[in-house]
Amino acid sequence: MAKNRLIKRYSASERINHWVVAACFILLAFSGLAFFYPSFFWFSQIFGTPQMARIVHPFVGVIMFVGFFVQFFRYVSRNFINKSDIKWAFSVKKVIKGEHMPNVGKYNAGQKVMFWVMTLSMIILVVTGVMMWQPYFANEFSIPLRRVAILLHAWFALILIASIIVHVYAAIWVKGTIRAMTEGVVTEKWAESHHPLWYQEVIEGSDKTVANITKKNNVE
Ligand code: HEM
Repeated sequence: MAKNRLIKRYSASERINHWVVAACFILLAFSGLAFFYPSFFWFSQIFGTPQMARIVHPFVGVIMFVGFFVQFFRYVSRNFINKSDIKWAFSVKKVIKGEHMPNVGKYNAGQKVMFWVMTLSMIILVVTGVMMWQPYFANEFSIPLRRVAILLHAWFALILIASIIVHVYAAIWVKGTIRAMTEGVVTEKWAESHHPLWYQEVIEGSDKTVANITKKNNVE
């Protein structure tokens, strides 16, 4: 059987959902860094004026939170860590060199850990964000509590920014991955070499969610 067919990995609605979250993240990261450190103040221009950035930042945060949690419920069942993920983590050096690829399902251990870091960061960012949101909610919380909220908000924003840099780098590093989130498809070769267990499911027709082989490029 020829192996240059395309396999569907994400539906259009999944891709729109992902890119809305990603766009919100970029707006929030730049405006947030502008509030965080004087040298980055000019980043507030991303919303036109610093005043506008201060008003809009929390609303965009709520949109990102809702968008991310739609993603969360879409992918959570695929992101529980299992025994073969531990094996993957121990052989990660070989994986990077392309020498060895233990059995991997739809997501590898690195992607799963990233998923849980994103989830934790999102929850902490939205809770602490609401606690410091003037003029709506902040006055409901004591000053010491708001100080803790500000500290946690800054820390988890930095953790999320660092994690997303790794997420984007990994997507570019593994050739053929970006296409999954832009066109919704990957090559059969990509699936077989990076996510062999998922590939097997697709071939056997057991991934009912998105997986099917597209007719486009079908050379059988
Ligand atoms: C800004 C640039 C971004 C790029 C280029 C990017 C790229 C990608 C790509 C290519 C995939 C597919 C990976 C695969 O199927 O193996 C993916 C999946 C995913 N992305 Fe992004 N992404 C970006 C931002 C974000 C942000 C800001 C978030 C959330 C905070 C996010 C959350 C996710 C999630 C939850 C998945 C599903 C896979 C998983 O559970 O790991 N992405 N991304």
